[in-house]
Amino acid sequence: LAFAVTHPSVEYSSGGANIVGSAIDASLSMLAASGRPIISFAMGSPAPEAIPTESITRAIADILSGGRPASAFDYSPTEGDPRLRRALIEWVRDEEGEIDPDCLLVTAGGMQGLDLVTKLFVSPGDLVLAESPSYANGLATLHNYGATVAQVPMDDQGMDLGAACRVVAEAGRLPRLIYAIPTFQNPSGVTYSLDRREKLLTLAREWGALILEDDPYSQLRYEGDPLPTLLTLDAGGGFVVQVRTFSKIVAPGLRLGWLVAPADTVARMAAAKQSMDTCANTLSQQVVARLIETGDLDRHVTALRALYPRRRDRMLAALERHFPREVGVQWSRPVGGMFVWIELPPPVDGATLLEAALEEGVAAVPGEAFDHERGRGAIRACFTGAAAEDIDEGVRRLGRALATTVGGGG
Ligand SMILES: Cc1ncc(COP(=O)(O)O)c(C=O)c1O
Repeated sequence: LAFAVTHPSVEYSSGGANIVGSAIDASLSMLAASGRPIISFAMGSPAPEAIPTESITRAIADILSGGRPASAFDYSPTEGDPRLRRALIEWVRDEEGEIDPDCLLVTAGGMQGLDLVTKLFVSPGDLVLAESPSYANGLATLHNYGATVAQVPMDDQGMDLGAACRVVAEAGRLPRLIYAIPTFQNPSGVTYSLDRREKLLTLAREWGALILEDDPYSQLRYEGDPLPTLLTLDAGGGFVVQVRTFSKIVAPGLRLGWLVAPADTVARMAAAKQSMDTCANTLSQQVVARLIETGDLDRHVTALRALYPRRRDRMLAALERHFPREVGVQWSRPVGGMFVWIELPPPVDGATLLEAALEEGVAAVPGEAFDHERGRGAIRACFTGAAAEDIDEGVRRLGRALATTVGGGG
């Protein structure tokens, strides 16, 4: 080995010493390293057949045969490729109204949006409210910037705002940021009612707190009518930054997303991005601009809205079949998004169950990744990534693992 050193000989910074990652992403690395065929409900990934490879191929062919093929492999403006920005503003017009180009930033996936918002608005020690349970990677971002995160329980309408007020009163200080995933929440699947959205905004204004509206899933609605986003409801009030991504509706490997924020915030974020990665992946941006322009993206999203509810129903039916009612397992019935949240009968611990499940050849994410305390008795299962025929078998294996865990081997 030319280089195999385990530890540096100098100390990490305090941030570096305390850095945390995500149990979700770690599961992908672990599964990749295991080399065993495992049915995975772990990552929030699209199904392989749900990646629009034909449209992407056509878009790349168009780029390569166009007048400036090399431009796709050059740096691009930090705010985003102008053609993508124009296409995006047009694409979100029906939902969000006309967005000022100065208020739009193209990012390297939703994660970079979460990072930039936290970087700009959260100082070490600041109080941040998040949902319980909440997206593990988002919680990791908040932690890594030194936030004091208080996770607030939810009901079926969204964050419990009475509980939020109690948390704030107990903390004796106001939150700087409220991290919310109001539509098809990851992992619970909960969607905030209109009333809860309005009340959350009112509270944020009272507290002088920014709402980070993380919205990767609103396009993946399988039933019912869309609700206005927090960004729309704020009506230009400057209390919401909305972070979105193409990961769930095109392909996560493109690492492409966008955010909408006040112009001054976008300018600062662009400056921050220049010391991070200069620009989002230029080829990805040119590809997605074409997918929007040709209508391929709209057609694709329509196809996903037909495909995914069938996968969800398959998972729900498999749960009925393999998790007998008398065992006391409960699960969500999401009307959008990618996840079923499965609550186990006490005292079963999600992580222990998943150890047994891995032996059976199936993976999911333990609930403790989404709330270290309150999530322990749950697991999250993604219904979009596994092949349809694997869903039933995967859930059957989970059921077997549960029987082993509850019955001590039975
Ligand atoms: C709630 C939430 N926010 C952000 C992201 C990150 O998106 P991306 O993969 O585009 O960085 C995800 C992805 O799973 C998510 O579920």
